[in-house]
Parts: sequence; structure tokens; C-alpha cells
Amino acid sequence: MRIKPIVNWRKFRIFLFTVLALCIIPLTRYHQIDEPILRYLEGPRGVDPLSLHLAGEFVESNLGTEQNADGSVTVRMIAQQYLFVPHCLLVPAGVPVHLRITSADAVHALAFSGTGYNIKVLPGTISATQLWFTNPGEHKTVCREFCGAGHYAMRSELKVVPRDQFPVLRPGERGNCAAQ
Ligand code: CUA
Repeated sequence: MRIKPIVNWRKFRIFLFTVLALCIIPLTRYHQIDEPILRYLEGPRGVDPLSLHLAGEFVESNLGTEQNADGSVTVRMIAQQYLFVPHCLLVPAGVPVHLRITSADAVHALAFSGTGYNIKVLPGTISATQLWFTNPGEHKTVCREFCGAGHYAMRSELKVVPRDQFPVLRPGERGNCAAQ
């Protein structure tokens, strides 16, 4: 009589392959999988997407470009179905641009045409990253994550002006294309 092996090696191999594949996927999809998970685990960077306009960092008067004492700028934006606020960004060339963006609803991805920047934007979290634009010019700001019926129309503008042409902002004042 043949004794049935306790371990089914064929099934075990399939199981091993599956586990291995599941481990490899996050390694190749850092921005899509790992980064959102890490951001989620960090927790305290969270914001309430339903009260963005009422209080906190992303109230309307605080959106746009802020000048920092060290010469860099901070840009705060909201992505929502189906636009970016502010609609037209103004930043100086050749200085660090600290971007802080959150979503009011779905998952979006902010990209600037002609650059490699592609920033995932999730509701409830703040995506913070540093950008740098060497030359003055205009870039289209587009959404690269399918976010609903108006996804393909979700685009706005970014104007990079020479450093000496960027307006001097009063404390508390935020710059956008209208301030130029
Ligand atoms: Cu927002 Cu696609």
C-alpha cells in the first residue's frame, strides 16, 4: 500500500510562488503601493477631506504660493473632482518649491507636463514633496490617476517665472497667477 505524503508538494510550490509574487509586486510599485501605505501608517499627517475649506492648513486663503524666509517657497493645493485649486500656480525658477497637496474626494495624481513629477494625492493625507524648476516657462498641470467622469478635463496651469519677477508677497499673502 502506497502511503500518501503529508505535504502536497505541488500545492506547496504554488503557494510559495504566490507569496513570492505578492512580495515582489510592492517592490516594483513603490509610488502606487508602498508610499500610500507608509503615508497611511504615519497617521498624524492626516487631514479631514470634508472640512478642508473650514479650518486648518488648506483653507482657501492659505492656498497658493507662500514665500519662506530662506528664499524657498511653499505651495499648498487641493485636488478635487475635477480641478486643482488654485487653478493657476505661480512659482519662481531656481528655488526649492515645497509642495503640500491633499484631496477633497477621490485619489488623484498631479503631474506637470515636461517634467518627471507625478504626485499621488489621497483624501485624508497630505502629500508633501520638494520640486525644482530650473527654467522659467509654462507647464500644464494634469491629473494622471483616473478619478471619474471628468478626469480627462482635470487640468490647470503652472507658471514658472524668473526669480526677480516673482512678486514680493506681504506676510499672510499667497501668490497665484493673478498676483503676477
Ligand atoms: Cu483627478 Cu483624474
